[in-house]
Amino acid sequence: MERHIQIFLNKISYLSITIATLTLIITFIIQTPPQTCITNPNSNHKPHVKSSCDASQRRMTTLDHKNHRLWSTNTWRKSVHSFTSLFTHLQSLKHISNHTHALVVSAGGGQAVMALKELGLDNVTGVELVESLPLVVRADPHNLPYFDEVFGLGFSSFLDQALFPVKYVGEIERCVKAGGVIVVCVEVCGDEGVMDVVQLFRKSTFSLAENVTLMGMKMTMIVMKRVKVFS
Ligand SMILES: *[C@@H]1O[C@H](CO)[C@@H](O)[C@H](O)[C@H]1NC(C)=O
Ligand SMILES: *[C@@H]1O[C@H](CO)[C@@H](O)[C@H](O)[C@H]1NC(C)=O
Ligand SMILES: *[C@@H]1O[C@H](CO)[C@@H](O)[C@H](O)[C@H]1NC(C)=O
Repeated sequence: MERHIQIFLNKISYLSITIATLTLIITFIIQTPPQTCITNPNSNHKPHVKSSCDASQRRMTTLDHKNHRLWSTNTWRKSVHSFTSLFTHLQSLKHISNHTHALVVSAGGGQAVMALKELGLDNVTGVELVESLPLVVRADPHNLPYFDEVFGLGFSSFLDQALFPVKYVGEIERCVKAGGVIVVCVEVCGDEGVMDVVQLFRKSTFSLAENVTLMGMKMTMIVMKRVKVFS
């Protein structure tokens, strides 16, 4: 009899320990970190109490870790490398330099952005419908949130997938300044296919087309030169 009671009491205490632990974990999880991190400029010593800022720093660290894991994968490195080859080629043709302000549209996870930054370009912007910080910010390629004629290079390897190719190309052309270049990579094609792409452009002249290998795929790269338009 007494043994039964003892077992019963043990069970209850186990149960309460479990509930307490779960409550603690849940409380921890649902605490959402604040958007901003304000430190008192007048205080010249660190607060004893760990502030909510630690939570946002922890979130940043998680993002860093996630990125580092992604960026060290073979697939990622290979993909970046294929963009590096392409951009090195454009560099040797004097189409881009370290000071070219570059815009990558439909940047995906940011492989092309990383390649351009690694080459030494000091201002590279990558946009995609879904952000991938810190390389890619969120923006609609059909409605770019930039002023006219800001960039020296507009690049996209996803023109093929654009819902409205004319609008898509028009937006890149609007944001690239006269004298700049627009480089698109499309499904591998010959002269006819190249002409179809070239005709999407209204403010640029054809510069060159050649087959390249990107992300393990054979593609055709078309380089257009943005010209000055008088209206
Ligand atoms: C461009 O930047 C890279 C990396 O910072 C540097 O190694 C290279 O010398 C620079 N190129 C020129 C032409 O300044
Ligand atoms: C890079 O370009 C953006 C957009 O035009 C601009 O706001 C930013 O100041 C530039 N950054 C640098 C370091 O030049
Ligand atoms: C690309 O390669 C294909 C054959 O795979 C060829 O028909 C086409 O003309 C090439 N395009 C260019 C721009 O050289």
